[in-house]
Amino acid sequence: MPKPTTAFTCTACGAAHKKWAGRCDACGAWNTIIEEAPLSQGPGRGLGAHKGRAVPLSGLSTSEPPPPRARSGMEELDRVLGGGLVPGSALLVGGDPGIGKSTLLLQAAAALSRRDLNAIYFSGEEASAQVRMRAQRLGLGDAPMRLGAETNLRDILTTLDAERPDVAVIDSIQTLWSDTVEAAPGSVAQVRAAAHELVTFAKRRGVAVILVGHVTKDGQIAGPRVVEHMVDTVLYFEGERGHQFRILRSVKNRFGPSGEIGVFEMTGAGLAEVSNPSALFLSERGQPFAGSAVFAGIEGTRPVLTEVQALVAPSTLASPRRTVVGLDSGRVSTILAVLEARCGIPFAGLDVFLNVAGGMRVAEPAADLAIAGALLSAREDNALPPEAVLFGEISLSGALRPVAQAENRLKEAQKLGFTQVILPEATKLEGVGGMALRRITDLTGFVGEVFGAG
Ligand SMILES: Nc1ncnc2c1ncn2[C@@H]1O[C@H](COP(=O)(O)OP(=O)(O)OP(=O)(O)O)[C@@H](O)[C@H]1O
Ligand SMILES: [Mg+2]
Ligand SMILES: [Zn+2]
Repeated sequence: MPKPTTAFTCTACGAAHKKWAGRCDACGAWNTIIEEAPLSQGPGRGLGAHKGRAVPLSGLSTSEPPPPRARSGMEELDRVLGGGLVPGSALLVGGDPGIGKSTLLLQAAAALSRRDLNAIYFSGEEASAQVRMRAQRLGLGDAPMRLGAETNLRDILTTLDAERPDVAVIDSIQTLWSDTVEAAPGSVAQVRAAAHELVTFAKRRGVAVILVGHVTKDGQIAGPRVVEHMVDTVLYFEGERGHQFRILRSVKNRFGPSGEIGVFEMTGAGLAEVSNPSALFLSERGQPFAGSAVFAGIEGTRPVLTEVQALVAPSTLASPRRTVVGLDSGRVSTILAVLEARCGIPFAGLDVFLNVAGGMRVAEPAADLAIAGALLSAREDNALPPEAVLFGEISLSGALRPVAQAENRLKEAQKLGFTQVILPEATKLEGVGGMALRRITDLTGFVGEVFGAG
């Protein structure tokens, strides 16, 4: 009996559904499920009828050195890639519309071409003249890379096969169409087919392929998650509108650590690298104010200091506001609950606004103590010591748990002129002198020690 073909697909995550639903139970997105023509099954696909060829197998040992990585010289990018671009690897760079993906990849391709790598940039969204104009504005006019304006997958593959570049940028995967798939460009079927072809090509020919993917909120075109599992490396380019900072974050990397970030600043002349993000994120800090806490965080392999800001005000609403930007709102709710249940400090009847200055996003549980510090400081209208940084995870019991890489956090804080650190009692520390350590066992102790109340 033939397998029933699913005709409904989630454009956010690519999950197949038997019938339409308002919400995808695979990824939780709303209004992303659309009807799609099922893939043709082809004749004789049953495995019983299949006469395959035996695949040559090999052992694990090798004397071959790993292929050299291609470094762009853009340090922020190279680090996020785990030390450079791996030949023959497939990358996905996702991001919101207008965040600067094309700018980043044009700069990257130009930088690679200036290091004698053969780089081709295919734009399916802008005409070559438009890309050239951008290149001029970015001061890249003389870079020996080449452009193509094309959306036909077959033509792109033929071109790549003839040219055999070291790296090819495809901007974007959602504009490509393959004549073997009967679906509109941007549909899950097209995006999947195009990504599959390009990834296969990358491996076979040793061409590094970088796919640009738009993050979409409506279900009109397929989101990057549809191709995340096919590629070696997934990077997301993030930033808040109205802020110049852009963060390139690796969420998956088969050739390096994930969670690594690169920090850029969007300027008129393109993306400028920010080699000392802590200084940048703290640069807007003026006089110490109630509700500000400096968190000594780690992003990937790098320590980054950020400022958590809280505002607490009486609410007129039946269910007060909890507005959280740049932090996990579930985490914030938990901390509010722990403050109430373990320390007897309620936030009922109060609106709470929390954000991370500069448009940074912080996901580490180690930020718990800084979040609690900012909340308490705002509520008590009592500024934290301006020379102090905080870190530590808060458990549901109110106890403080030590976190990894304490030394690195301290060193970064010291480098930026901080002299005091408020941290969990159980933190193991060696070899960081010159910092006053205020060790805290639990949240009640923190309230007493820092705010002078029980
Ligand atoms: N002349 C300019 N001066 C300064 N910044 C500019 C200029 N032109 C564009 N930008 C910046 O570049 C951003 C657009 O960058 P880019 O086109 O690389 O983004 P994208 O993510 O590729 O967008 P899309 O989703 O449209 O493909 C703009 O939002 C703007 O901030
Ligand atoms: Mg673009
Ligand atoms: Zn989904």
